[in-house]
Amino acid sequence: MLSNIEVMQSVKSVKDIDVGDKRVVIRVDFNVPMDSHRNITDDRRIKEALHTINYCIDHGAKSIVLLTHLGRPKGERKEEFSLRHILKRVERLIGKEVHFIEDFKQQSEQILGSENGAIFLFENMRFYPEETQNDEGFAKKLSAFGEIYINDAFGTSHRKHSSTYAIAAHMPVKVAGFLLKREIDAFSKALFQPITPITLIVGGAKISSKITLLQNIMPKIDKLIIGGAMSNTFLKALGHDTRASLVETEYLEEALLVLRLAKEMDVKVYLPVDLVIADDIEKPVDIKITPVQDILEGFSSADIGPATLKLFEEVVELSNTIIWNGPMGIFETDKFSRGTLRLAHAIADSYAYSIVGGGDTANAANMSGESENFSFISTGGGASLELLEGKILPGFEQLEKRG
Ligand code: 3PG
Repeated sequence: MLSNIEVMQSVKSVKDIDVGDKRVVIRVDFNVPMDSHRNITDDRRIKEALHTINYCIDHGAKSIVLLTHLGRPKGERKEEFSLRHILKRVERLIGKEVHFIEDFKQQSEQILGSENGAIFLFENMRFYPEETQNDEGFAKKLSAFGEIYINDAFGTSHRKHSSTYAIAAHMPVKVAGFLLKREIDAFSKALFQPITPITLIVGGAKISSKITLLQNIMPKIDKLIIGGAMSNTFLKALGHDTRASLVETEYLEEALLVLRLAKEMDVKVYLPVDLVIADDIEKPVDIKITPVQDILEGFSSADIGPATLKLFEEVVELSNTIIWNGPMGIFETDKFSRGTLRLAHAIADSYAYSIVGGGDTANAANMSGESENFSFISTGGGASLELLEGKILPGFEQLEKRG
């Protein structure tokens, strides 16, 4: 049986079709992080979509419509989520004028009357409640703007929404963009043609969000590093007194099952041996480094300790393929960022083929200043997680397959 990745690899790409003199609708994921002044803090998602957009421009598309969401406005027009905030950056990066379409339902003549590769950016898809409802009628209206649909929104391909899913059924030609292809190829390289040993590093707050991933990927890996708050649940399950640390008590049995599965599959597991702990995670006054056996009463773990870091660094150095998903501590807080950022340096410095999951992990990779030194940083947080869980992402399901 084909794996989810092989199924997704079989979709046709923009290279398999002729975009010349055609109207093209591209679903991109320009859901970029912004600061409180609506400045874009990381425009990687826009830059990564340029290959597909430029390809359509260079190969003579008649018009190009860009669809995306920004944030979660929940079906209402909310100024803070308007794509006007990103329009200038999109124009600057594409290097061409981009026409902003406030309401495509009112402006269809302008769009359909255009020629010569005019580019349009439609206002936030999630301003329309129909978008997240995967509404057929809404999808059909969107499909009227092109003969070719290209999905290049990897970060949103785990969502079954009108512009990522339902729209494809109404388009004569529907293919994947270059970004979608690159993402699948990178994960395929790590999981199906890995140079062993292959190490999975998981972190983040909750074991519950990674349990399916761990179960699915265990047969493919040699080593498993577990850090971040989710390691508390493992430590507690192994009998340590984790004191005030975040623990998912209803997952203690699951944690033991993961460890048992690892043993059965001969996967070596590395858990923290020491921790950075604090009296108050939000407003820390007293911060200490302690072995996992000696967490002080009333204290919570906030980062991995130096001995753990050394241990994890050694495992990283000995790995030839690394998949990293989840930070080692509360890296957004300076005092608790050391473990995550140093591990990022270690992965970037290693000779391994390294894949960084999107979302928080990609932010941590950027913060470390090493983003150029990983083999691949995914643009999808939830999407890369679901891919590693073995799922076929809905955004790929509707696209045409190669013969
Ligand atoms: C993301 O940032 O993970 C994607 O853009 C999807 O956003 P969503 O989680 O709001 O659907």
